[in-house]
Amino acid sequence: MANKPAKKKAAKKSSVSATRRRLIEAAKAAQKAAYCPYSRYPVGAAVLMDSGRIYTGCNVENASFGLAICAERVAIFKAVSHGEKKVKALCVTAKSAKPCGACRQVITEFAPKDAEVIIVDWQPLEKKEKVTRTTAGRLLPYAFNPSEAGL
Ligand code: THU
Repeated sequence: MANKPAKKKAAKKSSVSATRRRLIEAAKAAQKAAYCPYSRYPVGAAVLMDSGRIYTGCNVENASFGLAICAERVAIFKAVSHGEKKVKALCVTAKSAKPCGACRQVITEFAPKDAEVIIVDWQPLEKKEKVTRTTAGRLLPYAFNPSEAGL
């Protein structure tokens, strides 16, 4: 009897970290598809939505440089275009990865403040990765708030 709660806790902990690992691996796979002939800076992203589904994205650049779109926004827009509007967790992978300001505002639109953001410092062919975990709220404090603005 005394062992039961401990077993339950261990199972829960490992399943959460397995989901996180799945998200990281999905982002890394997407990073390999990055279209970045101009910057040569591949970025991958993956979002876990409320439904449990994962959508991935990579950065897609253009000869008209300003048209480049970040991996995080590609992943989120793919999810939204499938009718999914609530991000539970987001992962971004790149060398010294950090979501840019524009992506932080887009993440804020679809992720609650406590949604997990996993930042993975990694590039294709490397074995080593550095995982940093934060939240959507911490990424963009003092965010523009549409309901406060009456939108
Ligand atoms: N990039 C992303 O995909 N995500 C970010 O958060 C930062 C920047 C891309 C955009 C561009 O293709 C390349 O990285 C260099 O800025």
